[in-house]
Amino acid sequence: MNIVERVDLRNFRCHDEFLLDCPQATTLIVGENGSGKTSVLEAIYLALRGKSFKGVDREILRRGAEFYRAEISLADSKKVIIRYDGSKKSFEIDGKKSLRLPKRERYPVVLFEPDDLYLVGSSPSRRRDYFDELFQQISDLYGAALAKYKKALKQRNDLLKEETVSADDLFSWNVMCAHYGAEVLHRRVENLAKINELLTENYRSIAKNEDTCALHYLGEEVDENTYMQILERNFERDVYLGHSSFGPHRDDYEFVFNDKKADGSASRGEIRSMILALKFIEARILEKEVGKRPVVLLDDIFSELDESRQRHLVDNFKDYQMIITSTAAPDMMAVNKEL
Ligand SMILES: Nc1ncnc2c1ncn2[C@@H]1O[C@H](COP(=O)(O)OP(=O)(O)OP(=O)(O)O)[C@@H](O)[C@H]1O
Ligand SMILES: [Mg+2]
Repeated sequence: MNIVERVDLRNFRCHDEFLLDCPQATTLIVGENGSGKTSVLEAIYLALRGKSFKGVDREILRRGAEFYRAEISLADSKKVIIRYDGSKKSFEIDGKKSLRLPKRERYPVVLFEPDDLYLVGSSPSRRRDYFDELFQQISDLYGAALAKYKKALKQRNDLLKEETVSADDLFSWNVMCAHYGAEVLHRRVENLAKINELLTENYRSIAKNEDTCALHYLGEEVDENTYMQILERNFERDVYLGHSSFGPHRDDYEFVFNDKKADGSASRGEIRSMILALKFIEARILEKEVGKRPVVLLDDIFSELDESRQRHLVDNFKDYQMIITSTAAPDMMAVNKEL
């Protein structure tokens, strides 16, 4: 059964008016560069997750327009309407208005963008953001702990920049950082273990060989007490640096291929297969943990994959609703919508 049934946009990025029906399990949106394909996925993501994956409302509002409106019709006659008038945004779900999309109304999404294919060799902060986003989808508790950690960390860092800061001044922020930081660390390691359980098996089903792959957490999982001790021990160093040198905000994720760091040892094709495997696993884990089958948004991904990987992608997601954008219609699917 489809989750997203219809997308109706007004003044959303380059679209003054745009309507898309999604009657089939797979919807293909074909259009030239700059015709507004990614923007349609952005609107769907906004309705399902409550935020955009690429910009803020000011950027989304069509140049020169006074408001935008995105109405997304979902299964069971549910309707999400997002309005923005240049300063205020609201979500309306079946007639009920709120400033944010309520957590219970959120729906899991697997978004696959060409940029994801470069995750293995990109910056630590990009990888942290990537997994933070995924883990937040898996559990609201991760998102809540991360938000509180970031808030406490900012306060601690602000104090560290002051000239006369003492260890006592930091105490209450150390407590908060240790409490939420330890929770973030624990949940990251726990989620990574779930991914690792499935990674090699999924990779092999794509690559059809005996290679192995894994994701390693580059950071130390510590309990709250040890965390607190580390922060206290680091006092002088952190004052000198002007920021907190320990914590999940500094950690990274390493892709490992046949027991070696994948970046630098695995081929481009092998890395692509690893990311493909990761996407399949995301869908499986989200479905299991959230209890809802995610919607799969594939933004311009086909041109990046060879035919066998394209087929694998379609096969693996055949039980999911897929909304796919492309500049050219892949042979294997019928075109539903031309921009
Ligand atoms: N607020 C805005 N008002 C008007 N136009 C905008 C706004 N924001 C973005 N655009 C333009 O909208 C167009 C559509 O962008 P979008 O990324 O959705 O296109 P696309 O079809 O995905 O392109 P590509 O194939 O290159 O990925 C772009 O030309 C962009 O410059
Ligand atoms: Mg695009």
